[in-house]
Amino acid sequence: MERANQMAERQRVLLLTGASRGIGHATVKTFSDNGWRVLTISRQPFDPRCPWEGGAKNHIQLDLADMALVQAEMPRLRDIVGERLDALINNAAVSPKWPDGGKIGALEMGYADWLHIFNVNFFSCLALVQGLRAPLEVARGTVVNMSSIVGSRVHPYASAAYATSKAALWALTRELAADFGRVGVRVNAVSPGEIDTGILSPGTEAIVDRDIPLHRLGKPKEVADLLLFLCSQTASYISGSEIHIDGGQRV
Ligand SMILES: NC(=O)c1ccc[n+]([C@@H]2O[C@H](COP(=O)([O-])OP(=O)(O)OC[C@H]3O[C@@H](n4cnc5c(N)ncnc54)[C@H](OP(=O)(O)O)[C@@H]3O)[C@@H](O)[C@H]2O)c1
Repeated sequence: MERANQMAERQRVLLLTGASRGIGHATVKTFSDNGWRVLTISRQPFDPRCPWEGGAKNHIQLDLADMALVQAEMPRLRDIVGERLDALINNAAVSPKWPDGGKIGALEMGYADWLHIFNVNFFSCLALVQGLRAPLEVARGTVVNMSSIVGSRVHPYASAAYATSKAALWALTRELAADFGRVGVRVNAVSPGEIDTGILSPGTEAIVDRDIPLHRLGKPKEVADLLLFLCSQTASYISGSEIHIDGGQRV
């Protein structure tokens, strides 16, 4: 009973990458409003345009494209996180486009740019899970990887490198769910369609009219609420799943 009370009182801890804007911004606010301690990682210093209580002191500035730096910073990250990590949300991503917003095809991008995208969108996610394995296991925590609808279909604006990085992230989610399940850590992916953030290209309105049965963009807060659900005890038997949040765009 005493242990149950301690569990109930313990503040849960979330580490979220890419918190400075878009879906990440809505997610810090949602988790923080629900009593979580939220630690954030972004390439830029704490962004005052995304204010929330405790935000500045819980922000870690780290370029997730620099894998050597990510590995070097892991001991410091573990110190900041502490003994238990209840949730890790790999949300940061880059989605390069031509200057006019057009799609960059598979044949139009060189290896260095492919690697940059895969470092941010894929390898840094794996590095964080590997580096924070111990506190995730102690907490019997959960990992959510932000994939995308473009991981399973060709998209008019998303680059081939971005799309394949998201497909790889979903495959990694399956593998991690299989590996981590034995120790009670759940791993899932969320695959948004067109959510109203700066990542969208001009011309997305045409997709909304033509392809989305709900006939509107998704809101970052709608994704944040799904993430909160997946990281809660209410989702305690959901693992290895890809949850689509796209207004029906896949149909
Ligand atoms: N919006 C959509 O329609 C949509 C659809 C499908 C999937 N998604 C996925 O949902 C997630 C969030 O998307 P969003 O629309 O909110 O994106 P966003 O508004 O472009 O925000 C991206 C975030 O990633 C961070 N980031 C980018 N490069 C980084 C790096 N090298 N190191 C550290 N942080 C870095 C940015 O931080 P800085 O500001 O510090 O650079 C920013 O906080 C992404 O994984 C995206 O692929 C979004």
